[in-house]
Amino acid sequence: MSCAHGLAPDGLERAFSIDASAITFGRGVLGEVGEHARSCGMTRVALFTDRRVAALPFFETARASLALAGIDVAVYGEVRVEPTDASFLEAATFAKQGRFDGYVSVGGGSVIDTCKAAALYATYPAPFLAYVNAPIGEGRAVPGALPPHIACPTTCGTGSECTAIAVCDVLALATKTGIVSRRLRPTLALVDPSCTATLPASVVAASGFDVLCHALESFTARPFSSRPRPERPGLRPLSQGSNPWSDVGSLEALRLCGKALLRAVSDGGDDEAREALSWAATLAGIAFGNAGVHLPHAMAYAVAGLVRDFRMPDYPAEEAMVPHGVSVVVNAPSVLRWTASACPDRHLEAAAALGADVRGASAEAAGRLLADHVAGLMQRTAVPNGLTGVGYSEADLDALAERAALQKRLCDNAPRPVTTSDLRALFSGALTCW
Ligand SMILES: [Fe+2]
Repeated sequence: MSCAHGLAPDGLERAFSIDASAITFGRGVLGEVGEHARSCGMTRVALFTDRRVAALPFFETARASLALAGIDVAVYGEVRVEPTDASFLEAATFAKQGRFDGYVSVGGGSVIDTCKAAALYATYPAPFLAYVNAPIGEGRAVPGALPPHIACPTTCGTGSECTAIAVCDVLALATKTGIVSRRLRPTLALVDPSCTATLPASVVAASGFDVLCHALESFTARPFSSRPRPERPGLRPLSQGSNPWSDVGSLEALRLCGKALLRAVSDGGDDEAREALSWAATLAGIAFGNAGVHLPHAMAYAVAGLVRDFRMPDYPAEEAMVPHGVSVVVNAPSVLRWTASACPDRHLEAAAALGADVRGASAEAAGRLLADHVAGLMQRTAVPNGLTGVGYSEADLDALAERAALQKRLCDNAPRPVTTSDLRALFSGALTCW
């Protein structure tokens, strides 16, 4: 198998690292946040959320738990869904003025990412692009440790509670990018699957496909052992490529998605399915936090950044937006058909984990088989049909490819080298998924 982790020849990487947040997972654990905050040494906390979550009963559970633990709490309830550089900086101003010694985020990936960025810019002020990934930003290293952060996800998707990245739109460039540093990884992920019970079907579908793609991309990423060995351990990248540790989480996350995604979308009362999807999100978050994602996410940054007038039901209607998970999965079938030649066995193994029948399938059929299975799941959960479904056409392919090519870190993690013209062809293949 061409993606196998064998002994690396001289000059290539031989080691991989395992980094993860501490995790407490289970129904009702949000009510424990006060005690966890106290044991992290927090006395004055910035509690981040968004308007929708702020109105839900479990947010009050978290706030009351912090107050009961004797912690002084200030709420920042204005986090923007799909944050921008401007919204990150507004949150950072709040964080700086409040002189907090700890952070708690209760919400989806937008809330957790905004909290990470606010803690960073409040603790080590700098121009916005200083810490942003190169080539869009300077990629400057975070100078030191950040105050403790307890991340409490309320969707079952982003895995942000376990990762060392904060993602936002850079408005002037009409693209998404990220800040990546081990310092950003939350101190504790408090994952309470009961928070997902009230999520509308379209939100579960979008976040569920984000989980599925985190797992698929981590599992099919360029193997860690194909990278040049770093000069010193500190230069080892966070996105190491696929490795034996992330494979464990990816495969189990795929198995859980195969079992639970359709059920979790179609029946809000199916607690077992939503809990399984929450656990899949956590596992996939740990996996991609170590392996990194690749082309579907690189392309998603362009799909989200260039949106014109698409709106998804049950998301804020004030402005056009492609939810993150949708912007990723619309690219996945096209990418999987193309990446399969690099590691067909892994594509077949992923398809089998999702529940596809791979008996007798040849290596040549691996990409199509996995792509068709993912497209079938999209169709059955009413996810938009490819780029056309979110408002793009043939005329947009060049602009999409140029922007995706800016995501160098992600493109470099693909199992095959990719050029801008490859990206254009992949976008062309993503115009429709079925
Ligand atoms: Fe994602």
